[in-house]
Amino acid sequence: MHVASLKLRDFRNYARLDVEFSPGCHLLLGNNAQGKTNILEALYLMATLRSFRGVGGSQMIRHEARGYFVGAQVVGQGVSEIKAYWSPRERKLSVNERPVRRLTEYLGVLRAVIFCSEDLNLVKGSSQGRRRFLDLILSQTVPGYLVLLLRFAKSLKSRNALLKQVNPQEAELEAFTAELVLAGTAVMEARKLLVPRIAPMVRFAFRRVAGDVDDMSLVYQPGFRGDLAVALANSRSRERLVRTTVVGPHRDDLLIQVNDRSALQYTSEGQKRTLAVALKLAQAEFLSEVHGSPPVLLIDDVMGELDAHRRAAFVPLLDQAFRSGGQVFMTCTEENWPRELSRDLIRWTVQEGKLLVS
Ligand SMILES: Nc1ncnc2c1ncn2[C@@H]1O[C@H](COP(=O)(O)OP(=O)(O)O)[C@@H](O)[C@H]1O
Ligand SMILES: [Mg+2]
Repeated sequence: MHVASLKLRDFRNYARLDVEFSPGCHLLLGNNAQGKTNILEALYLMATLRSFRGVGGSQMIRHEARGYFVGAQVVGQGVSEIKAYWSPRERKLSVNERPVRRLTEYLGVLRAVIFCSEDLNLVKGSSQGRRRFLDLILSQTVPGYLVLLLRFAKSLKSRNALLKQVNPQEAELEAFTAELVLAGTAVMEARKLLVPRIAPMVRFAFRRVAGDVDDMSLVYQPGFRGDLAVALANSRSRERLVRTTVVGPHRDDLLIQVNDRSALQYTSEGQKRTLAVALKLAQAEFLSEVHGSPPVLLIDDVMGELDAHRRAAFVPLLDQAFRSGGQVFMTCTEENWPRELSRDLIRWTVQEGKLLVS
């Protein structure tokens, strides 16, 4: 799978960009604040309809403009022409000129994995980031998962709104509970199956990056044991006090351990960074395995943060991308680009919202 062309209008600092990309490894070089990361953001947007920077649509509109447009041609099994327009008033999304009505119909048109400094939050941040990580992988690999997840989120929201009322109607609460149990149990089941499948990949990537001295493990950690319906029934008195749903997949976590100790508490900053990279490497590897072809890799500056030894862990992934006609985009400044990975790179210079082949 690769992105054959990208078209930007009023997106971040790009007034107008039309560019074609071949498969292979693209190096986006440039000084700071020129628009390198913005290109990755636009590509990631085409894959997930979200910014990896966690911002809403209006921040991506070029200052003074009314809305942004991002278009891409993606070559995978077939060719998909994606067009996305976003303004506070109007949103349009189409694939091959057909309007897309639901997010759930869209995912899979472009599969991408991003490596960025925000990944550190997977290890250091709250459990929400780790749930999102699992949910994204599941959305990228299990048909129907996203539908389930949205169903669960909707039932949780309705149920919590009801619990906020002074005297919630029991019958209504039961109906929302039934829906929550149905969707929630399926969500947890999917996460529980996924973790042992990716855990060996994360572990292997970690050992490769960290250099075999430490061992790590990854364990799915639901917030309660047993049956969701029973756990909900048992939590009714607590729910009455706090007026919100206290058990369910929205409280799940992913326990990351290094040498049998919690990574959150007992690892150095460098180890945390290595763990974050390992999680993403595993995501890429898992997607490749499931789909039989690698996702587009978007690597934002992280190469510069890693020493040469750790960077070497990317080599198998890059090799695979080369072998299978995949595609990689890597941003760097002139000083820190990893020259040892430089076989057959396509080099671009990014300057003030322009992209030039160099
Ligand atoms: N909505 C926006 N409209 C116009 N310019 C923007 C917008 N958002 C960010 N920028 C500009 O984009 C540049 C940063 O782009 P970025 O891709 O993050 O840089 P880098 O090359 O360092 O990765 C800055 O010059 C910033 O002012
Ligand atoms: Mg940047």
